[in-house]
Formats: sequence, structure tokens, C-alpha cells
Amino acid sequence: MDRRKFLNSLSAASLATVAGAATISEKADALEDAMSAELDKRRAKPKACYTGEEYSFGGGSEGDNRPFFQHSDPALPEMPNEPTLMDFFKLRFAPASHVLQSARLAKINGHNETIVTACLLHDIGLELMNADHGYWCAQMIRPYVSEEIAWAIEKHQALRFFPDESVGYEYPQAYIRMFGADYQVEPYLEQEYKKARNHKWYMTSRLITINDLYSFDPDIEVDVEDFTDIMGRNFKQPKGGLGFDGSPVAHMWRTMIWPNNVL
Ligand SMILES: [Fe+2]
Ligand SMILES: [Fe+2]
Repeated sequence: MDRRKFLNSLSAASLATVAGAATISEKADALEDAMSAELDKRRAKPKACYTGEEYSFGGGSEGDNRPFFQHSDPALPEMPNEPTLMDFFKLRFAPASHVLQSARLAKINGHNETIVTACLLHDIGLELMNADHGYWCAQMIRPYVSEEIAWAIEKHQALRFFPDESVGYEYPQAYIRMFGADYQVEPYLEQEYKKARNHKWYMTSRLITINDLYSFDPDIEVDVEDFTDIMGRNFKQPKGGLGFDGSPVAHMWRTMIWPNNVL
């Protein structure tokens, strides 16, 4: 347990008990009691994590009245008060191998910074939600990137299911393994694809799917710091930090800071 985080998380009552203890040994006992109460707290399970089991609010069982971790989940590294995109990469998305390897490939293939940034960010929506991850991702970054990048990321959700032989994009073998050989996409994705196909930014989105690595190379390690400059030029870091800038998407970033808050 992170000692500073633990001490910050102690209630005023626990702190008073520790401070009021007369001897070093009594202080140690009081601290130990407080620590065991802290470890005994419940970790909330978001409702979206329930499938096929009966939902129980916060993940607690009936009659269990222990307090929940709230803003202080010891399983997660603490975020700074004004988090940057780089902080999220290091403290929440790490190792982020998929997006880092995709962005590296886009760089090697000589693409411009719009494409490299789109590849770097294209799947960070998965940190929040699997279903419709392209749309979640586009929404959470839209205030901070060019509209072209946000659009391309949104549409990669549909485009990755549709081959484009003219640029060498084939239906991913990985999807045959994941969804079965006769998988059909939902009609909304087909409509999205048809619309995107004739859009001026089609190739930006298509290049995400081309540089999207469907199988990762475990031997390639990409340092996120290699993208510091590209991030700086293509992602507007908001004043106050991601999650605290009052934007319409701030809650999405806060949810990634404290994903297990019970409320
Ligand atoms: Fe994706
Ligand atoms: Fe991807």
C-alpha cells in the first residue's frame, strides 16, 4: 500500500485516535487498526461489469456494510491533480502496447502527424468501454484534437470491418477468430461505412485501420515519450487538467481516474 496515499485516506477519527495515543506502541496499534479497516473496504464493481449475474449495487452483498473505496483505490496508481494525456498513458493506459505499436508503424510508414496521432489515440476508448469504442474514443478526445482526427477515430469503428483492396486492407483474420467466419456487422455500421467511404477524410480513417496492429509483436517495446512532441502539437492539453476542465466530456476522463468509485 502506498504510505502517503494510505495516510491521506485515513478518516479524521482515525487520525485523531493515532494522534491521541500516549505511547509509540499505542500509536502503532492505532495505525495498524486503521490500516486493517482500510484494507477491509469494499471495491465497487461498475454495473457495466455485470453480465448474467444479479446486479448488486456497488458490488456489495446484502448485509455487508463495510465502507467502499472512494477516490482512493489502492489498486490504482494515483493521478496528479491536473492530469495530462501523457499521465493517462503512463498511469491508466499502460502498457498501451497496441496503440503505441500502431502509432510507431504509422511513423515508420511515413504518415503525417494527423495520422500518427489518430493511430496513437484510436483505441483509448477501450479504457472506458469495449462496445462502440470508436465512438466513445472520438467523443472523449473531440474537444482537444482536430475534427479530422476525431472523425477518423469514430469511423474506424465501422471501417475496420470492410476491406479496401485498393489500399491493401483486408478483413482482419483476427476477427474471423473472434467473431466467427460468417459474422455480419450490424446495419448501423454498414450505413456508417457507406457514408464514410465518400467522405473527404475517408483515407485518414482508413489509414488507422491499415496501421492498426491486429497481432502485437511482444518483442517491440515502444516508449510513449517518443510521442511527447506529437502529442504536444496535436492534443490541446486543457487548463485544469483532463477531467477538471469543465468540458462536456470531463466526466469521461474522471471515470478513468476513479473507475471504481461507487457513485
Ligand atoms: Fe479499434
Ligand atoms: Fe486498434
